[in-house]
Amino acid sequence: HSLNQTYKPSFHFQPHKNWMNDPNGPMRYKGLYHMFYQHNPKGAIWSNNSIVWGHSISKDLVNWLSLQHALIPSESYDINGCWSGSSTLLPNDKPKILYTGIDINQHQTQNLAIPKNVSDPLLREWIKSPNNPLMEPNNVNKINATSFRDPTTAWIGHHDGFWRVLIGSQKKDKGILILFKSKDFFNWIQDKNPFYSAKNTGMWECPDFFPVLINGSIGLDISINNGYGIRHVVKVSLIDVSHDYYFIGTYDTIKDVFVPDKGFDKINNELSLVLRYDYGKFYASKTFYDGEKKRRVLWGWINESSIQEDDVKKGWSGIQAIPRTLWLHKSGKQLIQWPIVEIEKLRSNHVNLHSKVLKGGKMLEIFGVTAAQADVEISFEVKELEKAQVLDPSWKLDPQHLCKENGSKVKGVVGLGPFGLLVLASKDMKEYTTIFFKVFRGNKKHVVLMCCDTRRSSLNHNNDLANYGAFVDVDPINEELSIRSLIDHSVVESFGAQGKACITTRVYPTLAINDKAHLHVFNNGTIDVKIKKLNAWSMKKAKINEMH
Ligand code: FRU
Repeated sequence: HSLNQTYKPSFHFQPHKNWMNDPNGPMRYKGLYHMFYQHNPKGAIWSNNSIVWGHSISKDLVNWLSLQHALIPSESYDINGCWSGSSTLLPNDKPKILYTGIDINQHQTQNLAIPKNVSDPLLREWIKSPNNPLMEPNNVNKINATSFRDPTTAWIGHHDGFWRVLIGSQKKDKGILILFKSKDFFNWIQDKNPFYSAKNTGMWECPDFFPVLINGSIGLDISINNGYGIRHVVKVSLIDVSHDYYFIGTYDTIKDVFVPDKGFDKINNELSLVLRYDYGKFYASKTFYDGEKKRRVLWGWINESSIQEDDVKKGWSGIQAIPRTLWLHKSGKQLIQWPIVEIEKLRSNHVNLHSKVLKGGKMLEIFGVTAAQADVEISFEVKELEKAQVLDPSWKLDPQHLCKENGSKVKGVVGLGPFGLLVLASKDMKEYTTIFFKVFRGNKKHVVLMCCDTRRSSLNHNNDLANYGAFVDVDPINEELSIRSLIDHSVVESFGAQGKACITTRVYPTLAINDKAHLHVFNNGTIDVKIKKLNAWSMKKAKINEMH
């Protein structure tokens, strides 16, 4: 790390330099993983006319080699930008990309690209179809020409042989998913009914749709659509609030609509009741099915929390989260996410401890790992739950708000927590970031709050010093309260309760950098907690899109 690259991650995906946003068209093809991404090759900020599809390949989802851009603006239908889209593997290993083009009139169109040479496992060159644009707004369909983008991976209906794809859109304040069908992948017909919609949610960007197994963590190909033992997930990225929300429900293959389960239909009036992939920074995400390892893998974009001038100075902006395997929890009520196992091969210098009581008000420093580039797993055992603070019913039950009121600094309040990790800390504690739990006594059961507080992460207050929170559906009596944090210089990705709640954040310490960063466990509650086990590793640097 040269001085001006203090914040560059060591094992998170990013281009060699300049701007990156959404992950596009991830897939596995002929033994290689392909990753495409929204990229401005001309600078460290987004551009309204020069976005291309960057392209990298990998054998392990950890180390990446950068290739030539897969799609660049060139035709009347995409001259102002090649925006987000997805890839679909057709039978006999035929990959196709559907993407949004911004045309000469700034209208959004959907287009097809295919590999020039399918026997090249690198798929270096892509050819745009002469039939483009395949879908466009017009006077008949009345689709909003500036709210029509980001096609999903296509799936086939086995009863009729039609391919189907969803496009994100909006009608006034209503977010909608428009369904198109096609027999040949060229001629697409719009379905009368939206696939799914919800009032007062604004534009739905980057939709995703996929099946999950009711029982088990194995992934499924998107075209498995009418079986027992499966449920379906719809994810949308809400531009108005910059978060990715998901719904679990049923895919009605006859009506060709998605019907969310009870509880998930609340999106119309109460967004906070719907689940998010991540309660921190994580947007425009997309999954793909990895047929080799039989898993569904999630990619998501993590943008900067710094000011634009600083992004320009450092010459880059945007990273991708560590890919996550995701599956349905056995309750059927939520998804579980966990960093892909391959990332563990970067682990070194293992340190561990177990069965250690951490008294109320105490802190414990963990030595022996590079605290600015680490993987830390900790699990706590809590007793004396009867002494936990009562969740006052008059409080606004917004987890983010609760985290703010019960920050890691708040000491002496009789209760269970805050306890957790204190990361990227400077020696003098002028800078640190905390990820912690606080346990409350609720009406009938205990309520577990997970927080990530970055308000003291940097002495540079130009950065967005955010404070995030989530409720975690975990029983503190019979289950462990665990946190895993992947720390990579300016990013901390935390997984609570084995992947039930995730909080990702960007931080830019000025003192707690490189070997000056420290790692601690803390308990600022009044009640003792037990560290059941702690495992921490330094993380080696991955090879990611280096210049060659
Ligand atoms: C989401 C998004 C997409 C669009 C792309 C443009 O971040 O706005 O809707 O296709 O980025 O770069």
